[in-house]
Amino acid sequence: MAARDEKPGKAEKVTIPALFEMKARGEPISMITAYDCPTARLADRAGIDVVLVGDSVANTVLGYESTVPVTLEEMLHHTRAVRRGLRRALLVGDLPFLSYQVSVEQAIESAGRLLKEGGAEAVKLEGGEEVCDRVEALDKMGIPVMGHIGLLPQRVSRLGGYRVQGREEAEARRLLNDAKALEDAGAFALVLELIPWPLAKLITESVKIPTIGIGAGPHCDGQVLVFHDVVGLSERKLRMAKRYAELAETIENALRAYRDDVKQRRFPTVEEHSFSMPAEVLDRLRLPEPEPKPSEEGG
Ligand code: KIV
Repeated sequence: MAARDEKPGKAEKVTIPALFEMKARGEPISMITAYDCPTARLADRAGIDVVLVGDSVANTVLGYESTVPVTLEEMLHHTRAVRRGLRRALLVGDLPFLSYQVSVEQAIESAGRLLKEGGAEAVKLEGGEEVCDRVEALDKMGIPVMGHIGLLPQRVSRLGGYRVQGREEAEARRLLNDAKALEDAGAFALVLELIPWPLAKLITESVKIPTIGIGAGPHCDGQVLVFHDVVGLSERKLRMAKRYAELAETIENALRAYRDDVKQRRFPTVEEHSFSMPAEVLDRLRLPEPEPKPSEEGG
C-alpha cells in the first residue's frame, strides 16, 4: 500500500488489510480511545490509525469506578458519536461486560449492534482461549474481532487489581497460548495490556496478526493509550502512559477566567459580543403600544 498522506480529507481510509501491511513493513500502528465526536475528529485529523470506543468510557467519562457497569446501550451511544467524527481511522467498538459472556448468540447480537447501529467497523472483546468460540463465530459472520489479553479490566476484581500479568512462567505460557488461540480463531489483531515487554515481544513475533500494546513495551506492532491520559484530562498518572498535554489545567484556568469576567462584568461587552438593533425600533418600544386599527368591515 502507498504511504498514507496525513493531510485531512486526503488520507487513505485505514482498513484491516492496511493494518496487516503496516505490520509487514514494520510501520507502527497508532491507536487511541475516543468517546465523543469532537475528540474523535481531532484524533482523525492527527492521523491516528485506529480509534477505539473503549469501555474505559465508564471511568473516563461516565464516572464509574470500573468498566463493569457500562452497558451496551451506553457503548452504542458513544460509538455513534465517534462515528460522526471519523473519516480515515478504523473504528473499533468495545463489547462491554456481560454483552458477550452469556453465549455465542449474545456475542453475535451485541457485536452486530455495534456495527449496525453504532457504525463500528470491528469489535474488541477481552479474554483468551475461553472466548475463542465467540471470536470464531463473529469472524464467520463477517464481524472482525480484536482480542485483548493480559490485564483484563472487566475482570479486575478476580485479578486482584491493576497489576502486571504474565511475570511467572505458567501465566506467561498461558498468555502466549491465548494469543495463538485467538489468532487461530480469526482475531485480526490483539491488544496486549500490562504485560512484561519481553513477553509482548515474544507474542508479537509468534503471531501473524498485529499486536497493539498498552503497558507492554516498545516491541508490539502498535500502541494504544486512553485519550484522557494522553491529553492530561485524567487524575491518574500511570507509568505505562505518556502525557502530551495538561488539558485539565488549561481548561480549569479558562473556566476561572470566564467566571471572573462574568463576576467583574468584563464579559460580554457591547462592542465585541453583543448584537444591536435599529434605534427607531427601540424608540417606538418606549412609547405606549398603538391601538389596533379597526378593520374595513367595521369590526
Ligand atoms: O477500554 C479501553 O480503553 C481499552 C484500552 C485500554 C485498550 O480496552
